[in-house]
This record gives sequence, C-alpha cells and structure tokens, in this order.
Amino acid sequence: MEYTPNDNRYDGMEYRRCGNSGLKLSAISLGLWHNFGNVDPFTNIRYILLTAFDNGITHFDLANNYGQPAGSAEENFGRIMGKDLHPYRDELVVSTKAGYYMWPGPYGEWGSKKYLVASIDQSLKRMGLDYVDIFYHHRPDPHTPLEETMATLDLLVRQGKALYVGISNYRAKDAAEAIRILNGMGTPCLIHQPKYSMLDRWAEHELLPLLGHAGVGCIPFSPLAQGLLTDKYLNGIPSDSRAGRKLENGAIREEAITEEAILKAKQLAVIAKQRGQNLSQMALAWILKDQRISSVLVGASKPSQITDSIKCLSNYQFSEEELGRIDGILNGD
Ligand SMILES: NC(=O)c1ccc[n+]([C@@H]2O[C@H](COP(=O)([O-])OP(=O)(O)OC[C@H]3O[C@@H](n4cnc5c(N)ncnc54)[C@H](OP(=O)(O)O)[C@@H]3O)[C@@H](O)[C@H]2O)c1
Repeated sequence: MEYTPNDNRYDGMEYRRCGNSGLKLSAISLGLWHNFGNVDPFTNIRYILLTAFDNGITHFDLANNYGQPAGSAEENFGRIMGKDLHPYRDELVVSTKAGYYMWPGPYGEWGSKKYLVASIDQSLKRMGLDYVDIFYHHRPDPHTPLEETMATLDLLVRQGKALYVGISNYRAKDAAEAIRILNGMGTPCLIHQPKYSMLDRWAEHELLPLLGHAGVGCIPFSPLAQGLLTDKYLNGIPSDSRAGRKLENGAIREEAITEEAILKAKQLAVIAKQRGQNLSQMALAWILKDQRISSVLVGASKPSQITDSIKCLSNYQFSEEELGRIDGILNGD
C-alpha cells in the first residue's frame, strides 16, 4: 500500500540541538540493531519505521554490521527509503557506523583509513543513499593511531559522504583526544554514542561533563537495558522477547534477567506508576531530564513500543525526592 505520512507528525515530538551544532535531533531516535535484518519479517520492519516517522522520529541509527546477516538492516532500511521514505530524505537524519567486524582479513574491522573508506561506500550502496547525515567510528581501535581514524572521518565529510561525524564507545579520555583532533581539522565531533541507562551509569562521571563542556551532543544507546527496564520481564521471560528468543550478536541473554535486576525493576515500576508512567517511559524520561542528552536511542520489536515510549516526553521532570528514591533502588540500599 502506498505510504502517506501523518500530517501532524511534528506536533508531539521535541527536537533538541545536538551539542553546539546546528543540527536538531528528535528526542527519541530509533536504532536498527535488532529486529531489522533479513531474519525478521519485512512487513513488521516497514511498519515500525513508518510508525516512528509518523510520530516525529526523524533520526534512524544504523551500522554496517546491524541485522542478521550483517548488513541486512541497512539493506532493509534502503528498501524502505526507496519505496516509502524517498520523498522525505531531507526530513531524515540517517546515521551509520564502522568499527566492528564486517568482512574477513585485516581490513574488515577497527579504525584504519582502508577499512572506514570501504565500509562507508558499502553502507551507502546498501541503503541506496548518496550520503549519511552522521558517520560514526563505532569503537576505539587500540592499534590504529587516533589521528588516522579522525583524519578519515574528516576526509569523508570533505568528500560529501557524511555531513557530520561522531564516535561511539569511547571512554572519556580517548573521547577528549578525538574531539581535540577533529576540532583541529575543522570537522567538529557532532556527537558521542555511549551505553547509558539507569542500570549502567558509567557515563555520568567523566563523559557527560566532558561532552557538556566541549559542546558535543550525546545519544545514549540501550536506554532500556535491552528490555530489562520495561515491564516485560517482571513476571518471567516471554518467548518472543529479546532474551527469550536467544539471539546472538550481543543481545541480552536469559542469565542477565537476574532476581536482583527484576527486584530493582519492580521497585522502579512502583515509582513510575506514581508518576503516571510505565517503567519504560520513566527509564527514558530519567535520561532525558539531562539537557546534555541530545536524544535517546531506543530499539523496538513492535510499532506499539514506539508509540508507548514516546509518551515519556510528557513528563521528564523529577523531584529531588523521586531522584533520591530511584538512586536508593539502583544502589541497592
Ligand atoms: N554504538 C553501539 O555500540 C551500540 C550498541 C548497541 C545498540 N546501539 C544502538 O542503540 C539502539 C537501541 O539499542 P537497544 O535495542 O539495545 O535499546 P533498548 O531500547 O534498551 O532495547 C530495545 C528493546 O526493548 C524493548 N522495548 C522497547 N520499547 C519498549 C516498550 N515501550 N515496552 C516494552 N518493551 C520495549 C524491546 O524488546 P523486545 O525485542 O524483547 O520486544 C526492544 O527490542 C540500537 O538499535 C542501535 O542503534 C548502539
């Protein structure tokens, strides 16, 4: 069926300026790590993506290795770009990344110029795009000089293959160095993509202060801890959940659904209910309360999860008392 977008798609979404740049991101972005590969039903993929766009999500996050098999999330996104979203390319921010294993031999992963140049060309081809809006180095490379990796990001911008660049999974010290090198080349680092959620707060100590100070945006990934910070595991492991499906490729495993994690989720769900939210909405709101956060990067296996998660935007203010109670639960007090 031909796609006609919702005319009111921009009404319910908030758009945040990404660091000191001119680019605004939707406060909720959608990631295509799981559920968008060739092993997943294409009709569901299409429905999730169009539901996101219809609800004001303008930013879609990919990587060379997303989907099973690797690369198929970009291919499927490309199919939907070609079929449905092509007329709206200028309303979209599409990001992709390179850094993890993608093809055999010495040039198929990490951070060399050889790998990054080949990878972005492959990604553009799979997605059928002329350029991506954001190209990330996906993880730090201990063996390639940071200057080489950052010079390649700068090159890709100058070649017009990416409009902006970012880094992901860099610790604060390495991020500071990458930001300094990129600034020196006149291609500022737009954004950092760290893992950050109520259950993994490492970024708060050094990374967020650094990004805030440097005017670099921040888009946390796995904000729902892959589903642990939702209501879905409170009474067992559903067979159609990410943990229940026993997926490979970094997906949450049954062993991670511990009694301790469930107890915390149940206690947090009580506070969420008092705030008029469910646990997922409160977990996302808790991240968005910080204005240094440009957007929060969710995953979804169903369109209804998108419309549910977006409701977090109606309340991301927390009282000191709520924050204290949440800290108490997270610290296991
Ligand atoms: N840079 C990196 O190294 C890196 C690493 C990981 C992820 N990422 C990016 O971050 C994105 C998000 O990561 P993630 O998928 O782990 O994020 P997440 O939002 O923590 O987890 C997504 C999962 O949570 C469940 N969910 C989402 N919304 C829900 C709702 N409203 N109610 C109930 N359950 C809900 C779904 O699980 P079910 O499938 O069980 O329904 C969904 O698949 C990825 O797609 C990718 O773009 C980047």
